[in-house]
Amino acid sequence: MDKSTLAAADPAAQQHSDKLKQLITELISEQGGWLSFADFMQRCLYQPGLGYYSAGSHKLGQGGDFTTAPETSSLFGQALATHIADAGKQLEDFDVLEFGAGSGRLAVTVLEQLSRIDCLPRRYLILETSADLQQRQQQLIAESLPSLSSRVAWLSAIPERFTGVILANEVADAMPLHLLTFTENDVSEQGVSVDNDQFVWQKRPLQNSRLQNKARQIRACIGEQPYQTEVNLAAEDWLTTVADKLQQGAVFIVDYGYAFEEYYRPDRSLGTLRCYYRQQAHDNPLLLPGLQDITAHVDFSSLAHSAHAAGLDVDGFHEQADFLLAGDITQLSAELEQQSKTLDWLKHSSNLKQLLLPGAMGHQFKILTLSRDMGVFPRLQAADRRYQL
Ligand SMILES: C[S@@+](CC[C@H](N)C(=O)[O-])C[C@H]1O[C@@H](n2cnc3c(N)ncnc32)[C@H](O)[C@@H]1O
Repeated sequence: MDKSTLAAADPAAQQHSDKLKQLITELISEQGGWLSFADFMQRCLYQPGLGYYSAGSHKLGQGGDFTTAPETSSLFGQALATHIADAGKQLEDFDVLEFGAGSGRLAVTVLEQLSRIDCLPRRYLILETSADLQQRQQQLIAESLPSLSSRVAWLSAIPERFTGVILANEVADAMPLHLLTFTENDVSEQGVSVDNDQFVWQKRPLQNSRLQNKARQIRACIGEQPYQTEVNLAAEDWLTTVADKLQQGAVFIVDYGYAFEEYYRPDRSLGTLRCYYRQQAHDNPLLLPGLQDITAHVDFSSLAHSAHAAGLDVDGFHEQADFLLAGDITQLSAELEQQSKTLDWLKHSSNLKQLLLPGAMGHQFKILTLSRDMGVFPRLQAADRRYQL
């Protein structure tokens, strides 16, 4: 993929991207001519004021670069709220902590539904790395939930001790990735260099021992063949930190992804790295720094192992359709149908299909449920796929 096949950026956006390109170019030079892809992606997405998530571009929802489940339908947040309430009822008093709250839409729907079923948390905390998105969340919540907005607070770091329910929808997939390139008998780390004022790929021998370990496990799945793929150490580290701080409660991680063996299948030889720019998906992250999203599927086995190593219980691994059905989405949608005009309901019902159908989000998205010091979750007993992890 080269830039000519993508929609042209307007002059202001191009100028913004050029600034970030200059900054990354200087960083590459300071580092001796090579930057790991994880560091490159970190700058592209989160460089303060310039990164894709840190700056003001329209990312989520209609007219943005991509649409997530909470933006697709309020039924997603409502069914998730059923599971949050199940966990909340096991605790004396609980908070909700949402990581990477995007536009704030999920916070609004979850709080509305928890209020409706009389299971409100003491506080709804949001930890958002992007100052721009934090501002949008504050605005949406103040406008949509004036009576509940005093319960919502923004944090700049994970609390030292937390009791309650932790949510992360499409957060792990937005964390910086290391790229590995396998030949028949060797493996190297793919990084970024500069040639002729352009970012170019450059490999170097694997030096990080955690990556070497992963490479051995991946090799066992793929055999001796050329292969390129991603490893998300940042998500594992994030989860270890989250687990350390969780005194009691549950964690719901929602994302597109697979268990390890499915992720590193021999025929998935180009990995899952994708870029999104104005609803156009492509595979070249070196283009348009700061203007496009960069993402990859999540390896849920590695997350489950990190959680287990940090002392959490792994309570369930569900496809999104099964998880939402267990959260009573059919009953919630029947209630919505009764309240909707016919035309509105047609739209709701098409969005519901988007959440549930196997060819849409129903099968591709998974929910990993983790907990500390909690009882069983009866709703999670059916259609559980932990055996895959
Ligand atoms: C793909 S968006 C998803 C937004 C939202 N959860 C939704 O589903 O619409 C990824 C979000 O994760 C946030 N993010 C990435 N890494 C994070 C981290 N370590 N802590 C908190 N937020 C993070 C980004 O700033 C962004 O808001």
